[in-house]
Amino acid sequence: MSQHPYFLLLFSMKKTILSAGILLFSVMVFDSTAKDSGDATEHGMHHDKMHSINDNRISLGLPAAMKQHQLENMRAHLEAIRSILGFISDGSFDKASQLAHTKLGLTEEMKKMCDMFENEEFKSLGLAFHRSGDALGEALKTKDITKSLDTLHTTMGYCVQCHAAYRQ
Ligand code: HEC
Repeated sequence: MSQHPYFLLLFSMKKTILSAGILLFSVMVFDSTAKDSGDATEHGMHHDKMHSINDNRISLGLPAAMKQHQLENMRAHLEAIRSILGFISDGSFDKASQLAHTKLGLTEEMKKMCDMFENEEFKSLGLAFHRSGDALGEALKTKDITKSLDTLHTTMGYCVQCHAAYRQ
């Protein structure tokens, strides 16, 4: 019986320690959550910086309006490739050929677009790409699938080559 108050004391001490522990733990969790979100932002920024540091492609230094215009053109190129593939699989070679000439070929519009770039190597790569679009148009006229796909493969080689070397 004489031990009873001692246990009570210990029990209440335990309760105090436990409460203090819970409080401390909550503060630590709150603090680390706050830090985590801070770190995430910092990490994100860091990541972006890393991205531009590691992006060794040549920048064309385009003004904002031209950037949008170029990206629109690019999306149209991608769409054209898809439509051409659709027409090839349908056996509609004439339609595929027409698209290749008008959407990927060296039209007056594309010539003007390419001429706007100051970077001469980029310009000549762009012109070579559009000439390959016309070559694709001609290959499609033969209705020879293997020949057409081989020419498309060459055209898409320019997409890959240019994207690997340049950015806006
Ligand atoms: C002469 C260079 C060149 C050629 C050829 C070229 N592109 Fe691009 N393309 C670019 C540049 C530069 C960008 C912007 C990339 C950047 O800044 O990261 C781009 C961006 C794009 C984008 C992103 C569009 C967006 O809205 O974000 C697509 C899609 C694309 N190109 C598709 C194509 C396809 C498909 C072809 C071939 C049929 C092609 N490109 C050929 C230079 C080229």
